Amino acid sequence: MKEINITEQIKYIGVDDKTIDLFEGQYVVPNGISYNSYLIKDEKNVIMDTVDKRATEEWFKKLEKELENEKPDYLVVSHMEPDHAANIQKLTEKYPNMKIIGNEKTFTFIQQFFDIQKLEERKIVVKEGDTISTGKHTLQFFMAPMVHWPEVMVTYEQTEKILFTADGFGKFGTLDTDEEWTCEARRYYFNIVGKYGAQVQQLLKKAANLEIKTICPLHGPILKENLDFYIQKYDIWSKYEPEDEGVLIAYASIYGNTKEAAQEMVSILKEKGVEKIAITDLARDDMAEAIEDAFRYDKMILAASSYNMGVFPFMEQFLHHLQGKHFQNRKVGIIENGTWAPSAGKCMKEILEKMKNIEICPTVVTIRSKMNEQNKKEMQQLAEEMIRGGE
Ligand code: FEO
Repeated sequence: MKEINITEQIKYIGVDDKTIDLFEGQYVVPNGISYNSYLIKDEKNVIMDTVDKRATEEWFKKLEKELENEKPDYLVVSHMEPDHAANIQKLTEKYPNMKIIGNEKTFTFIQQFFDIQKLEERKIVVKEGDTISTGKHTLQFFMAPMVHWPEVMVTYEQTEKILFTADGFGKFGTLDTDEEWTCEARRYYFNIVGKYGAQVQQLLKKAANLEIKTICPLHGPILKENLDFYIQKYDIWSKYEPEDEGVLIAYASIYGNTKEAAQEMVSILKEKGVEKIAITDLARDDMAEAIEDAFRYDKMILAASSYNMGVFPFMEQFLHHLQGKHFQNRKVGIIENGTWAPSAGKCMKEILEKMKNIEICPTVVTIRSKMNEQNKKEMQQLAEEMIRGGE
């Protein structure tokens, strides 16, 4: 069992999960996920969140080891989602004198999930800016509603200048995964928190007033160096600004003819000097990654077959995901395919028009069954509009 110490008195007691099939019931996590939990050792011992029920046994072992025969005095509940809160019932039964720190909403949710004995006597309800001293440490609480769920709050430990950020700054992948932070943190951010950019902005404003040495999220690595890098990424992402110049080509193809057009588009863009191009098969590739790339780049080309007077469902699903996550401020090109009554373009446009500040390129390429020479010329035109702006 690898030991990770945050500081002398703050211990990591989280657990890596490498066998989960779908995180939060929908996301593939090829490198697993970590459920982070922390113990602050002091005159009063504080547990910062529990873990998923998949990790109960290992977590209790780690907790007991770090407690060294002492007992916890407080549990801080940053977030009630079961990947962090699943062990609250068991923990409160094991340590009947332990108090539970949360906000009004936390306790509404606790009562919905659990039946905790003498909860009224054990609960400590905190509000924005409240502090609790544990000896050498002082915890200060800041509300972060909808930085994933409405009860979310972050905790600033004033002495060691550590911000416990709940789901904020989280990342897919276990802690022993050797990979750069940005890619899986971005996929995590846009799929899990992406809808709540405004709320993340509010949290960043609060964090800007704090001197932070370490960020302790509930998933992924503890961040100790170069914190501006991570904060800047969160600032860009939560403002819905593109992070990179580049093009995502997302296609939904039934027999491969639309796919062929999408691949042709890759060649055209490469010839025109576009350096960053991502291509995704919406029926087969990871939808969460397609969403991530759509937010990452400033441009996107959609290529889809027509289907039942509409658009092939994988494309419809993708666009509805983007709409739900407040996709905005991007340039989009459309390629449709239809043998007798092409309807994909109109359907895609209708969904895109519900989003904010989406510029749709004037050339819509309509393929009749299979791309022909005329289509290739139109795709050249579309690429020009994409890169240089339409005439
Ligand atoms: Fe990691 Fe929103 O729970």
